[in-house]
Amino acid sequence: MNSKIAELKIQFDAEAAKASNTAELEALRVAYLGKKGSITELMKEMKDLSPEEKKSFGQEVNQLKGYATEKLTACAEELKKQEIQKEIDSVPEFDISMPPSMNEGSYHPVTLVQRECERIFKTMGFAVEDYSEIVTDYECFEALNIPKHHPARDMQDTYYLDNGQLLKSHTSAAQNAIYKKYKDALINDGVPIKAIFPGRCFRNEATDACHENTFFQMEGVMVDKDISISNLIYFMKTMLSEVFKKDLKVRLRPGFFPFVEPGFELDISCLICGGEGCPSCKHSGWLELCPCGMIHPEVLKAGGIDPEEYTGFAFGLGLTRLVMMKYGIKDIRDLNSGSLKTLTQFIDE
Ligand code: DAH
Repeated sequence: MNSKIAELKIQFDAEAAKASNTAELEALRVAYLGKKGSITELMKEMKDLSPEEKKSFGQEVNQLKGYATEKLTACAEELKKQEIQKEIDSVPEFDISMPPSMNEGSYHPVTLVQRECERIFKTMGFAVEDYSEIVTDYECFEALNIPKHHPARDMQDTYYLDNGQLLKSHTSAAQNAIYKKYKDALINDGVPIKAIFPGRCFRNEATDACHENTFFQMEGVMVDKDISISNLIYFMKTMLSEVFKKDLKVRLRPGFFPFVEPGFELDISCLICGGEGCPSCKHSGWLELCPCGMIHPEVLKAGGIDPEEYTGFAFGLGLTRLVMMKYGIKDIRDLNSGSLKTLTQFIDE
C-alpha cells in the first residue's frame, strides 16, 4: 500500500475511535470524505503518477474511501445504540411491589354520564356512532333544512376554518352521514335505523355559569315505517328514568327546530320535588331537558330516504346539561376547568 494512504488510514482510525457524538462523526466525514477532505484530495495527486502507478493508487484510494464510509456508518450506529442504552439506564427502576398511588385518576363526569346513556341505548338496540368534530356547512346546516341566511343559524354561531369547514355546533351535524350509512339496510332489508351519536360541540359563546364554547350533546335518531311520537316518548322516558334511577314523568311542549316537524321541548318531572313545585323548577313541577321531534321530510330526503315511506324521530340531549342536573353542578365552566379538586368528586355508580 502506498505509504501516504496507509498513514492516512491510521490517522483516520485513531480519530474515528475518539469520536463520541454524531456532530464529531459528521466533522470527521467532512474532514476525510468531504469535497476538500484528505481522502478526496489524494485523488488530485494522481496526475503526477505514471499510468501503472495511477491504476493501483486509484484502487487503493477507492478502497480507503469505501472503508472510511463503512466505518463512519458503523460508528454512527454504535453511537445510536449507546444513546438509547443511556436513556434506558436513566429511567428509574419500576417497583411492581409498590402499593398503588392514592392519587389515581377518575373519569370525567361527562364520560360517566355518556357511558351510562350509551349502555342504556345499546340495551334498546341502538348503535353508538362516533363522528368528527370538524364538519362541512352542508352537514351542520344545509342537510338539516337550515339554508344559508336562515335565522336559525344565528343561535349556532361557531368557529370556522379557512377552508370553509367548521367546528360542529350540534351533534345533529352527523344525522346526514348516519342516514346515508344505514339507509341501504333500511330500504333493502327492512332494518330500522337506530343510532345515538354523542359528541363534543362548539359555539361562539360568551361564557358564564350557563354557557360554554365547548360542550357535549348526544343525538339520537330512529327511522322505520310507522314511527310515531309515542315511540319517541317511550324511548326518552325509559332512558331518562334509568339515568336518574327513578321513574320520571315526561311531557312535550311545542318547540321549533328546522330539522323536525313537529318539534318539541321534552320536559321531565322535577328531580327535587317530583312535580309538586319547588324553587328549582320555578314552581312549575317540570324541568326542560331535551329538544326533539319527528324528522323533517327534507332531512330524510337529503339522507336518501323516502319520507313518503319512512318516518322517524330525533332528539338532541344536552349531555353537559344532563351531567349538571344529575350531579347538581351549578357552573358549567367547572366541567372544562381541568380542576382535579372538582372533577375527582364524581364516581361511577
Ligand atoms: N341540534 C339542536 C341544538 O343543538 C337540538 C335538537 C333539537 C336536536 C331537536 C334534535 C331535535 O335532534 O330533534 O340546538
